[in-house]
Amino acid sequence: MRAAVLRRPGTPLTIEDVDLDDPGPGEVAVRVLAAGVCHSDLHYMNGDLQGRLPAVLGHEGAGVVERVGAGVTRVQPGDTVITLWRPRCGECEFCLTGRPALCPLGKVQATSGGLPDGTSRLALNGEKVHHLMGVSCFAEKCVVSERSVVAVDPAVPPAVAAITGCAVVTGVGAALNVMEDVAGSGVVVIGAGGVGLSAVMGLRLVGANPIVAVDTVDTKLDKALELGATHTINASTHDVAEELARISPRPMSWALDAVGAPQTLQQAFEVVGTGGTVVAVGLGKVGATVPVPINPLVQQEKRLIGSLYGSANTPVDIPKLIDLFKAGRLPLDKLLGEQYELSEINEAYAALSRGATGRAVILPGGEG
Ligand SMILES: NC(=O)c1ccc[n+]([C@@H]2O[C@H](COP(=O)([O-])OP(=O)(O)OC[C@H]3O[C@@H](n4cnc5c(N)ncnc54)[C@H](O)[C@@H]3O)[C@@H](O)[C@H]2O)c1
Ligand SMILES: [Zn+2]
Ligand SMILES: [Zn+2]
Repeated sequence: MRAAVLRRPGTPLTIEDVDLDDPGPGEVAVRVLAAGVCHSDLHYMNGDLQGRLPAVLGHEGAGVVERVGAGVTRVQPGDTVITLWRPRCGECEFCLTGRPALCPLGKVQATSGGLPDGTSRLALNGEKVHHLMGVSCFAEKCVVSERSVVAVDPAVPPAVAAITGCAVVTGVGAALNVMEDVAGSGVVVIGAGGVGLSAVMGLRLVGANPIVAVDTVDTKLDKALELGATHTINASTHDVAEELARISPRPMSWALDAVGAPQTLQQAFEVVGTGGTVVAVGLGKVGATVPVPINPLVQQEKRLIGSLYGSANTPVDIPKLIDLFKAGRLPLDKLLGEQYELSEINEAYAALSRGATGRAVILPGGEG
């Protein structure tokens, strides 16, 4: 089957004819219908994040279960599923206390480049190829743990289903699961990519006001207004703190960094009001740090917290997000950007780097 392989950071992905094993016990084979162009894959491509290589990239996917291995109970052939890049084992301390994004199973898959047992189902000319976060959906098919999928309504467009598996649950989840008492409170979202725009949608749903989107690209800010932002600031032409003061006499209660650069996280900390909380969602280069000014932290009781995968309970929350889409409460289809074939994946990432608006998706089966 055809798949997009990363051999070395800084080199383009190559479309290769990769061997894929049958699903083993507890595993499922999925025919990929759509896979989202998330910035996290770009972090692996440019070396900001380091994983086991060579690897088939892609972690934000949707498809149809083709085959199941022995003992699989959660899904059956024919089910439409969304992939989960942080599966829940269901038994560890974090799963049992409702924080499955922190389940060690996700870490095992991310660090081993394999499935839960640490081994891979992918090979190229006899050479082992790794999975990305137990998924690897920039491919015609993938074999994943049954814990790495959640079944959803097959009537949902595959592109919408795919982006719900990462950008949407991460951004909307930050608004729904992390930000408390947000109705009527001001929130600034820094970064209007797939994750930041999803946060904007979630913030509209829970009644935040104002919702201020910050980016350096005007078309992304227009999209933020379409999805529920009340105000926007172009950070390349305006001073963010000054603009926020103009927009609202009440300082922002929450600031979300959906970029992951030291300067944006620092900016989030500076512009959030007294008693406010910064939620860090964007990922930085391995080892990147940011200085936190001590006295505002203490005297203004500012808080700085991280959020992984929307701090969501994905098998429960993702079907709910899909239901909100079907009910017209979350316009996930409006978040979609360009659609590409698998062979165009490097163009899709070049466009993301250039500032293309909306969440692009790869359609490994072609558009038809
Ligand atoms: N925490 C999680 O679980 C999680 C999940 C998914 C993605 N991520 C991370 O979140 C980040 C965003 O992901 P994405 O897919 O939305 O990326 P993206 O590239 O689509 O969006 C990033 C946005 O930031 C904007 N930006 C860049 N520099 C800026 C600046 N100085 N000020 C304001 N805006 C700026 C860009 O124009 C772009 O719109 C990435 O680091 C990604 O790895 C984290
Ligand atoms: Zn667990
Ligand atoms: Zn992602």
